[in-house]
Amino acid sequence: MKFDTPAGQNPIDQLKHVGKPIDRIDGKFKTTGTAPYAYERHDVVANPAYGYVVGAAVAKGRISRIDMAAAKAAPGVLTIVTAESAGPLGKGNFNTAKLLGGPEIDHYHQAIALVVAETFEQARAAAALIVIDYARTAGRFDLAKELKGAPLHSEKGKPPVTKIGDFDAAFGTAPVKLDATYTTPDHSHAMMEPHATTAKWDGDKVTLYTSNQMIAWSKGDVAKTLGIPKDNVRLVSPYVGGGFGGKLFIRADVILAALGAKAAGRPVKVTLTRPMMFNNTTHRPATIQRIRIGAGRDGKITAIAHESGSGDLPGGGPETAVSQTRLLYAGANRLTSMRLAVVDLPEGNAMRAPGEAPGLMALEIAMDEMAEKLGMDPIAFRVANDTQVDPEKPERRFSQRQLVQCLEQGADRFGWKQRSAKPAQRRDGQWLVGMGVAAGFRNSMAMKSAARVALDKKGIVTVSTDMTDIGTGTYTIIAQTAAEMMGVDIDKVVVQLGDSDHPVSAGSGGQWGANNSTAGVYAACVKLREAIAQKLGFNSADVTFADGKVRSGNRSFALTEAAGDAGLVAEDAIEYGDLGKTYQQSTFAGHFVEAAVHSLTGEVRIRRMLAVCAAGRILNPKSARSQVIGAMTMGAGAALMEDLAVDTRFGFFVNHDLAGYEVPVHADIPHQEVMFLDEVDPTSSPMKAKGVGELGLCGVGAAIANAIYNASGVRVREYPVTLDKHLAHLPPVA
Ligand code: MOS
Repeated sequence: MKFDTPAGQNPIDQLKHVGKPIDRIDGKFKTTGTAPYAYERHDVVANPAYGYVVGAAVAKGRISRIDMAAAKAAPGVLTIVTAESAGPLGKGNFNTAKLLGGPEIDHYHQAIALVVAETFEQARAAAALIVIDYARTAGRFDLAKELKGAPLHSEKGKPPVTKIGDFDAAFGTAPVKLDATYTTPDHSHAMMEPHATTAKWDGDKVTLYTSNQMIAWSKGDVAKTLGIPKDNVRLVSPYVGGGFGGKLFIRADVILAALGAKAAGRPVKVTLTRPMMFNNTTHRPATIQRIRIGAGRDGKITAIAHESGSGDLPGGGPETAVSQTRLLYAGANRLTSMRLAVVDLPEGNAMRAPGEAPGLMALEIAMDEMAEKLGMDPIAFRVANDTQVDPEKPERRFSQRQLVQCLEQGADRFGWKQRSAKPAQRRDGQWLVGMGVAAGFRNSMAMKSAARVALDKKGIVTVSTDMTDIGTGTYTIIAQTAAEMMGVDIDKVVVQLGDSDHPVSAGSGGQWGANNSTAGVYAACVKLREAIAQKLGFNSADVTFADGKVRSGNRSFALTEAAGDAGLVAEDAIEYGDLGKTYQQSTFAGHFVEAAVHSLTGEVRIRRMLAVCAAGRILNPKSARSQVIGAMTMGAGAALMEDLAVDTRFGFFVNHDLAGYEVPVHADIPHQEVMFLDEVDPTSSPMKAKGVGELGLCGVGAAIANAIYNASGVRVREYPVTLDKHLAHLPPVA
């Protein structure tokens, strides 16, 4: 189905199932431990062996000698895979560093061997017996140092600096201006379920039970890396215990499980251990961002510049932290650019809301600082600079843009009026209390997505697609969509996900999963409705599907009859035309935070959080709310604790476990509220939905930092905002 004109009225608008806060249909499997994750596929693989990954102990250099004799002779060991034994391997389109290194080493903890044994413990014990000598070479590990002289990054065929008007002239003459630099550190996805794969070969075909967000991308990359035809690769990933972008691609567990199983001649399971995940897989790259804003005394922005620097391994890409600044606020004179340094740290890549998450952490503090300089309320300042058109291309309108409504309705709900414009004014015992706000922004992306829908003689509707549910609620919203389209109860719908044998979906990433994957199911259901109508001799234009029946005029059949013994199957994809070019399709939020800073110790406590989101039709308010709550929690981590500590001498992330890499726990998050504004976007898809998962994170960090400033009067521009950064500057206690 081609989607190239805005959606009119369609069966989804009935909202009998879609839009309802239905419990997640996979919830009972997860809470009872019966949803099998990749490392637990005892149901499909008998008698697996266990692989243990050995990571490089240097960040850059070469293996000069590797002695595996003792390891090979250790109890239970079946085989050891190295680059030498594996032979030539390709590199996936989505990988920057090789997934099996050696003899050259590209980064610390790059996988260099897999020990396969009868038990996990035997594999681990044997791995410790491998003796490796390295010839270490100098690496580049200090981002600030490497950014000096690093080139500007330009995307395919585009100029490296985006310029509108004359920024320098406008900034030079602006009566009120800000020029400040903000930093965000490297972040780790630290998802609950580690990267894990169970691999099984049948002749020259390999099946990989793994944990992955983008099945089709990853199937292609497995084939490319192993040098085998795509048709010989099957990926199965029905349940994913968190990904956050860290599982958009295949990682070492996938390739090493496949190679280990081939070498051992039997199925092999490989998981990355928690301490391996931080340096072996990808992370969100650190940024250094300079923001300049000039405004008139009326509070209108006349000049805005955002320049970001980040680093990656050779051949990698930048953290696109300036993207929201091109679209979020009005202003005639604009400049954005990104600088990309080569650093030899582990591979940087997408982590939840790549670009906007760290970009807004900087931009939305800058907006708070500007509002203060102007003597304006930070909400009024943002409202004064709202735009309903793309500021770089004013002929392009936003399809929907309710940023002002998010901020104003949020302000009412949160009690913003009680905030003191002057910082460090409110005390509660020994605590200084303040409020902060930030805008949230994230684009809505259109991606082709296919599904197959079958109706059987019992009236069961089975949806199959390679779409994944990474804890987001995909199973449920797909079931709601099929139930709405086919006029059946939700318990008559079976959803099969995460298998590369199913039609290729949009996959889970960039908050595009919900809208696109359900639109693909919509397209397949339209085709199935037509097939049913045709079989019954109905004109498909005036057929209704409700209560398990199909009706036309005064004739009606049960779906069970329509299906007949053979049943009916339809497959289709949603494919997008130019609406995403004609309209700027984005999602908006207002994030509100009340924070307290202890006047003696400088400790920070978040007291309340509110997110008001405008993100198209909300397909399931319960799962959408959970997405936003989770994202706000991730924002609290980014604001207050998450920080991969770089050892700039040896080139690795030092705090590579969950004791050293801190993430929020329940006690850090006292109260969160989420509101969704009424919105349907007919330009986004027949579902009229967008996405909320990443929107829930975008802006949160800055709202927290701004609340801390309002509480303490100390402005911290280096994340995370830890007490050492403001303790010495807190107001006098007595
Ligand atoms: Mo997301 S970082 O595209 O999973």
